[in-house]
Amino acid sequence: MRTPLIAGNWKMNLTRADSVALAKALAEGVGSATHYEAAVFPPALYVDAVREVLQGSKVKWGTQNLYPEAPGAFTGEICAPMLVDLGCTYVILGHSERRTLMGETDAQVNKKTLAALAAGITPIVCVGELLAERQANQTADVIRKQFEGSLAGLTEAQIKQCVIAYEPVWAIGTGLTASPQQAEEVHADLRKLLAERYNQPLSQEVRILYGGSVKPSNAAELMSQPNVDGALVGGASLKAADFLGIAAGVKS
Ligand code: PGA
Repeated sequence: MRTPLIAGNWKMNLTRADSVALAKALAEGVGSATHYEAAVFPPALYVDAVREVLQGSKVKWGTQNLYPEAPGAFTGEICAPMLVDLGCTYVILGHSERRTLMGETDAQVNKKTLAALAAGITPIVCVGELLAERQANQTADVIRKQFEGSLAGLTEAQIKQCVIAYEPVWAIGTGLTASPQQAEEVHADLRKLLAERYNQPLSQEVRILYGGSVKPSNAAELMSQPNVDGALVGGASLKAADFLGIAAGVKS
């Protein structure tokens, strides 16, 4: 039984006060819901303030990245033990913006994933194809390569602790969304990759989120697909009503 996860990636948005206000509204709106899990990913600087609001609520929190080394001389970076210190449950890794803008490779995402797991933080590992790749019918190959590289060398116990997010790059922040069928096809492929590398029962345990212009009006249909286990939401997660509207699309 995979509990759907609705994850809000705030990216590099909001002020400290906005973050606290949004977290308050979400804690209230999510209330005591148990048929799905909610998590938010504020800018790292605001995680502590958000934590103070969310502690004791059903909403979990995490960061949008980490650096895969032990504490030390790494100017500007944050490491997994710091996330533990701030009570983070999750960390988003390998988001397409980091892959594209910061040049993050599958090998780096893999190192980060292992560092998160070693610290007991659940990584949400993102994969997704570019528009040109989809148009050239390369989607399945790109997803396989990212899966193999970003999740290389994980044991069964480790992969079970991961969440995978399928985010077609052409759908992120563009208003374009993969159709429920397009999303389901890739999610089913990812589950097949899990079954091939590990085994069938394990493949049924790992949550696979969809991300890319998810909003209240399309969330329910996307999440009604058998292999779509929730959403990674960017833009729409900045408004409590939209985030909660998306969560309302989870079947209770
Ligand atoms: P979007 O972003 O919902 O604004 O398209 C999704 C994401 O980047 O995770």
